[in-house]
Amino acid sequence: MHFKNKVVWITGASSGIGKELALQLAQQGAILILTGTNVETLTAIKSELKNARTHILNYNLLDIDGIPNLVDKAILLEGHLDYVIQSAGQSQRAMAEETDIIVYKKLMDLNFFAPVAITQSLLPYFKKQGHGNICVISSIAGLIGFPLRSGYAASKHAIKGYLETLQCELFKTNIHVSIVYPGRINTNISKNALAGDGQQFGNTDENSDAGMSVSVCCTKIISGLKKNQKAIYILKAERLLFWFWWFIPSLYYKIAHAKGVR
Ligand SMILES: NC(=O)c1ccc[n+]([C@@H]2O[C@H](COP(=O)([O-])OP(=O)(O)OC[C@H]3O[C@@H](n4cnc5c(N)ncnc54)[C@H](OP(=O)(O)O)[C@@H]3O)[C@@H](O)[C@H]2O)c1
Repeated sequence: MHFKNKVVWITGASSGIGKELALQLAQQGAILILTGTNVETLTAIKSELKNARTHILNYNLLDIDGIPNLVDKAILLEGHLDYVIQSAGQSQRAMAEETDIIVYKKLMDLNFFAPVAITQSLLPYFKKQGHGNICVISSIAGLIGFPLRSGYAASKHAIKGYLETLQCELFKTNIHVSIVYPGRINTNISKNALAGDGQQFGNTDENSDAGMSVSVCCTKIISGLKKNQKAIYILKAERLLFWFWWFIPSLYYKIAHAKGVR
């Protein structure tokens, strides 16, 4: 089995996509390192994963300066690391002009600077080890803009640019970089999103409710990882939106405005 005894570090493991990846990878024999800020939830997940070797490495990824030290700790837990899957992230539900600059900074820190800092610290280690897999959960908002997500889309576009550049630079190495582009997945992403003033948005919007189940999403991510896919698209109806954006942009902007602007 591909993931049997592989050491997989998952950020954002306390909820949604990260949590479900942990559950599915545990069934496939992976050794897990789970990161999030909510220790109680991480502990509950660890007890759910009875038969899997699991470590908890709680951390607030907004503390970017401490990330090199965090990476060292992650490697030391099992003495080596095969995969990092960076799912920690936060969305936004506010019109651009109503979004405080602090919110933009927070979204960039969590969705861009934190995964960059983790990746930068891991690269020398993976190079020395001779192999390694880096996966970051971006979003369809990393491909096209959508109302109420100006800062979120900017951060996800930014991480795409960084990782695609790495994919070119690492082409001749045994270090694989996968970028995941989910559309709407049924998780707490909208509840946990930031409002314009930095408060938690607190509502599940219809986009999340109509989303793909998180278990189907994660099965597709794992299947893409097994093939070292550089881009893993997890899209349903959003595929059509993307098609409109590419071929009939005026139609895309009309639909996005009608669907997204409140
Ligand atoms: N659901 C979707 O529709 C969707 C679509 C496209 C892309 N995505 C992306 O998928 C990833 C996972 O989202 P999700 O849907 O699973 O959302 P979620 O259920 O809200 O989970 C978010 C995770 O991020 C962690 N996190 C948030 N702030 C953190 C911080 N400061 N430090 C450390 N961990 C932090 C949370 O852990 P704690 O609560 O323990 O801090 C939680 O485990 C995100 O990157 C998101 O942008 C989701």
